[in-house]
Amino acid sequence: MRRKLAAGNWKMNGTTAALAELDALQGAATGGAEVLICPPATLIAAATTKAGAIAVGGQDCHPDASGAHTGDISATMLKDAGATYVIVGHSERRADHGEPDTLIAAKTHAAWQAGLTAIVCVGETLEQRDSGKTLDVIGTQLAASLPDTVTGANTVIAYEPVWAIGTGKVPTTDQIADVHAFMRATLVHHFGADTANAIRLLYGGSVKASNATEIFAVGDVDGALVGGASLKATDFAPIVDALNAS
Ligand code: 13P
Repeated sequence: MRRKLAAGNWKMNGTTAALAELDALQGAATGGAEVLICPPATLIAAATTKAGAIAVGGQDCHPDASGAHTGDISATMLKDAGATYVIVGHSERRADHGEPDTLIAAKTHAAWQAGLTAIVCVGETLEQRDSGKTLDVIGTQLAASLPDTVTGANTVIAYEPVWAIGTGKVPTTDQIADVHAFMRATLVHHFGADTANAIRLLYGGSVKASNATEIFAVGDVDGALVGGASLKATDFAPIVDALNAS
């Protein structure tokens, strides 16, 4: 396994009181794997003051650095607030806000310009999986969402099957292995082996303490992007521990 990353996406959950969870995560965060929490934007600046060994990230950014975009937040602003990562192309944003791959590529580029590492999310719907299109969908998303100057330092890829997010349904380890091997091969094809092998590949979708160890044993899985089970340190710390032990 390469540089390991356990990332928590709090989504639209958490007020100031939730930052106490960061204190309870500190022990797990010093075990080798990098630990990242992406809280709501309102909590980023406060989170960085308590983060200790934990990195802090945003959940989305606008492709422009500033301008007349009411309600949006730029990568520059996230960086200024203390973030070092930003998630782009999460399926909830692709679905809720109709975000196409071209916009996700622009957001990824904006993240890099601001000095943030982009976590680019890809994943198929259940309908796409059932019709045998999973690898086509992932290949298209990867090719279209990643600018050419991708590196292992500026980008992480998260494979999140839409049907596994928040549902308790998890792909088999063979299914995860197939997609992760395909993603690695696709990255090698587009960007060469050195770059491709340096890019961390996360799995996301109903990761829990009870399934983390078997997921982290899958080839080409460098960590996880965790939603619901990242909200409480008592749930997330065992996942981080499993990654540290993998
Ligand atoms: P769950 O872990 O709640 O399924 O969410 C996964 C996810 O969407 C992380 O970005």
